[in-house]
Amino acid sequence: MNVQNTPEKYEGKHTADATTVEEGLAIQEEQAKYDDDFATETAMANTLLTPRFYTTDFDELDAIDVSPVRDEWDGLIAQMVADPNKGHFKKNEDWDHVDWDGMEPQLKKEFIDFLISSCTAEFSGCVLYKEMKRRGNNDDITQLFQLMARDEARHAGFINDALREAGLRVNLGFLTQKKKYTYFRPKFIYYATYLSEKIGYARYITIFRHLQENPEHRFHPIFKWFEEWCNDEFSHGEAFALLMKTDPKLTSGHNVWWIKFFLTAVYATMYVRDHQRPTFHKALGVDPDWYAHEVFTKTSKLSEQIFPITLDIDHPRWQRQLEKLQKANADLAVATENGQFMRKIGAQARAAAAFVALFTIPAKKHRVPAQTRMEPAY
Ligand SMILES: [Fe+2]
Ligand SMILES: [Fe+2]
Repeated sequence: MNVQNTPEKYEGKHTADATTVEEGLAIQEEQAKYDDDFATETAMANTLLTPRFYTTDFDELDAIDVSPVRDEWDGLIAQMVADPNKGHFKKNEDWDHVDWDGMEPQLKKEFIDFLISSCTAEFSGCVLYKEMKRRGNNDDITQLFQLMARDEARHAGFINDALREAGLRVNLGFLTQKKKYTYFRPKFIYYATYLSEKIGYARYITIFRHLQENPEHRFHPIFKWFEEWCNDEFSHGEAFALLMKTDPKLTSGHNVWWIKFFLTAVYATMYVRDHQRPTFHKALGVDPDWYAHEVFTKTSKLSEQIFPITLDIDHPRWQRQLEKLQKANADLAVATENGQFMRKIGAQARAAAAFVALFTIPAKKHRVPAQTRMEPAY
């Protein structure tokens, strides 16, 4: 279904112009009647590799006192309040016509999968941040989470615009109510969300810079928006770095093992997921192994602002075990589809062994700088 008309009430209104998350979601809610089952079902899927929705102990999060990082905090919030990207995330004259019907079927399939998964990930952040804002009483915390939720609602809305041209749309209201929520303790939310914001920045900026150099590979206009997009993610990551800095225990002692675990899990998931989309990466002119290494390098460099360790991604075991993990995952998918129980167990065991081999590579240690805040420099 391809709908060109916006409901009258929201005529001229767009998620990009919404100044609060509530407004952004109301606009999308109104459009939800045009949603399509395929995209929403894909977004509903819960596997190790698909984006999840999270919930946490909101009271504990609300109790954070940001006074130890007040100077850096106020600077960041002022920047987000100034809202340089208001109105940016909507189609304009730079939005080239997309020939969805003429697109090679495999590329279309993988690209749509990429868009749905990105939209779900953006919306996952939106839901978590919005809930924190709603439940909290701490002005610093609720203000931050309101600002981040605002951005994620715009991002998700913009991807939905792109999907709508292909006759698809993710029903965000339905997802909010029906998708399963995974509980994470606040400290795990910090590690996981900090990393997903920073790796999101690294992913978007790497593609953006690559396409600046090789515009002939820009097969869809949405990539033109990636620069401002990733700056939003960068700021969100900065906020989580500051939240972690308020409590030095979060980044020392046995928690360093948790940090290592999340670094390994986030990097490995990205590697496996991207290798499921070979045609998409070929169309972009990007070798997924090169891309992964680029993104890991940038994310590691950024995460030195707060994490006392980085993964040794140049260790001889790193690439080899990533490939094994990816192969085990591909085999697992085939075995699951064919209902081959023993093969499934075997593939799961190989995946677990590869993960352990990655996790046990000695990490690189370094001193964390006194000043946390950074500016996007890639
Ligand atoms: Fe986002
Ligand atoms: Fe974000």
